[in-house]
Amino acid sequence: MSAKLTWPAPERNKQPILEVLERIVPSTGTLLEVASGTGQHAAHFAARLPALLYQPTDLEDANLASIRAWRSELSLPNLLAPLRLDVCESPWPVGEVQVVYNANMVHIAPWECAVGLFRGAARHLAPGGVLLMYGPFLVGGAHTAPSNQAFDEDLKRRDPRFGVRELEQVVALAAEHGVTFEERVQMPANNQSLIFRRSQAGSP
Ligand SMILES: C[S@@+](CC[C@H](N)C(=O)[O-])C[C@H]1O[C@@H](n2cnc3c(N)ncnc32)[C@H](O)[C@@H]1O
Repeated sequence: MSAKLTWPAPERNKQPILEVLERIVPSTGTLLEVASGTGQHAAHFAARLPALLYQPTDLEDANLASIRAWRSELSLPNLLAPLRLDVCESPWPVGEVQVVYNANMVHIAPWECAVGLFRGAARHLAPGGVLLMYGPFLVGGAHTAPSNQAFDEDLKRRDPRFGVRELEQVVALAAEHGVTFEERVQMPANNQSLIFRRSQAGSP
């Protein structure tokens, strides 16, 4: 049986996220995806951003196997073999990258993983490089939809360390690591794309 997983959410959101990525990524370089999940995003984005080297990663063996299955089905020259990457660990098994992309992770993991994401971005993102986060966020201390509030409560029941994050806290965390918030894009289904950039000068 194939290890290839197909989840409904990435099927729904992959095209709107691609449209944001197409606008912000450089014409060449490496895109590091943190927490790739099934690999559906990696497959979709690598096919449509052929000038970028696309490095998928995840923590879970089942997800890494699924990414491998998507990759072998597509045989895209720019889609690299997935790497095991725990965002909380240091160092990450990659060099310098021009883009970091992370979807739907920080609310479904302890806050330390958000810290790990920006700490890693500060180490690995090239000066001027871009970081795109996607998912639900509170804005101005408020949920952007009742369904997000219900989701938040459900996450916290599952694990009190989980929960929808506050945009302003994420922006402050990024700034501590020399990564500047540039733009918020309202996405379908009450999600947000958050665009950050590492300063040209490099380390904070
Ligand atoms: C809800 S899924 C999102 C997957 C994918 N980004 C998407 O949007 O479809 C959350 C992902 O976070 C990953 N994850 C959780 N904790 C992690 C950690 N400490 N380091 C790296 N990935 C982690 C899980 O393995 C899973 O793939």
